[in-house]
Amino acid sequence: MSAGYRRQVNHTPSPELFTWEFATDPYPAYAWLREHSPVHRTRLPSGVEAWLVTRYADARQALADSRLSKNPAHHAEDAHGKSKTGIPGERSANLMTHLLNIDPPDHTRLRRLVSKAFTPRRIAGFAPRVQELTDQLIDGFADRGTADLIHDFAFPLPIYAICDLLGVPSEDQDDFRDWAGMMIRHGGGPRGGVARSVKKIRGYLAELIHRKREEPGDDLISDLIRASDHGEHLTENEAAAMCFVILFAGFETTINLIGNSAHAFFHNPAQRSVFQDAVERGDDALLDTAIEELLRFDGPVELATWRYATEALEIGGQQVREGDPVLVVLAAADRDPARFEEPDTLDLSRRDNQHLGYGHGIHYCLGAPLARLEGRTALETLFRRLPDLQLAVDPGDLRWRGGLIMRGLRTLPVEFSPR
Ligand code: HEM
Repeated sequence: MSAGYRRQVNHTPSPELFTWEFATDPYPAYAWLREHSPVHRTRLPSGVEAWLVTRYADARQALADSRLSKNPAHHAEDAHGKSKTGIPGERSANLMTHLLNIDPPDHTRLRRLVSKAFTPRRIAGFAPRVQELTDQLIDGFADRGTADLIHDFAFPLPIYAICDLLGVPSEDQDDFRDWAGMMIRHGGGPRGGVARSVKKIRGYLAELIHRKREEPGDDLISDLIRASDHGEHLTENEAAAMCFVILFAGFETTINLIGNSAHAFFHNPAQRSVFQDAVERGDDALLDTAIEELLRFDGPVELATWRYATEALEIGGQQVREGDPVLVVLAAADRDPARFEEPDTLDLSRRDNQHLGYGHGIHYCLGAPLARLEGRTALETLFRRLPDLQLAVDPGDLRWRGGLIMRGLRTLPVEFSPR
């Protein structure tokens, strides 16, 4: 057993967390925690002690509780300047001041600013481009009869989409693809490569922001600069950190939405048929509820990003001390039988579905409309163009990444009739 893994010290049959089995299917362990230890103190693989909040009602309340700060400076153990955000090298690269690491009033100012640039209109206008990217990627492997849905499809789609949206010129987008790949592959592993990637992204973004100031275009970065020129204040570093968080929060999540959803369909053939019939009929209402249900059922973000108690408080009857880290387990909350009927069943027509997959409160996902657009376009197009798509390996051979915050597959080998 590697250092930091939880040891069983008493007679309670508390499940082991953060093992290989847990990464493959964490839901039985979460069901146990919800019932027996809903606000659970645990030692994370990194050695840090934190509370896991697993019931829906507690989770929703905690996400909106202003006594739980996003600023890592509130962590009692944060005396050594270590990054607790899960982004190795981030602090040294000075990209700390992004939305997910700050509280009001700075958060309010930056969120207002980016909301002026990240508008529903911009996202709606982006739909044809997302469709074009999706088709191009499928064209790349449709005649092969086999593919790795993660590597060939789910991974490049959000990278190119976000680069386009931000205004990264197409000739630079493959660099981003490499840097992003490095960050995902080694997110929890060797630090050097990741730190180098973050440094490269930072240098590149600083230069790009400078260029957009000189020659603005019709892109998100130019809009962000325009919005800041009209009264609100945005430092160079804040602008770079904003682009970084949009990239960082927007790519691995969307990869996992596509991968986890395809995986869910392979295991639930009846619901897959419901989806494919809806695609054929062009049933918009069902396709929309389907994407929400896929997010609830096996969403991309297993745990919300870090929060720290700024004072002693009670969560679900448990005393939490000032400085304690609190992790809200979205994947557990979204399977809570106290909130969802038959929570372990995938039901694409589920109506009462206020899941927490995009978070809740002031940090609610900024990119939700883009994620919905990309997720729906990707899945709809994939299962329309390759209707007999199936898993090409034994389900037991699939490997999950096993990171703390995200839940997603390393690879998803598939086969289909070549087109
Ligand atoms: C925040 C989920 C896609 C940008 C969040 C949070 C969640 C989430 C749970 C809140 C985290 C917390 O409170 O600790 C997802 C999921 C996605 C997705 C499941 C895909 C299916 C995207 C995309 C973008 C994006 C495509 C941008 C292009 C952001 C940003 C925040 C955020 C900037 C921080 C907002 C703030 O702190 O005010 N997301 N996200 N996300 N997301 Fe997403």
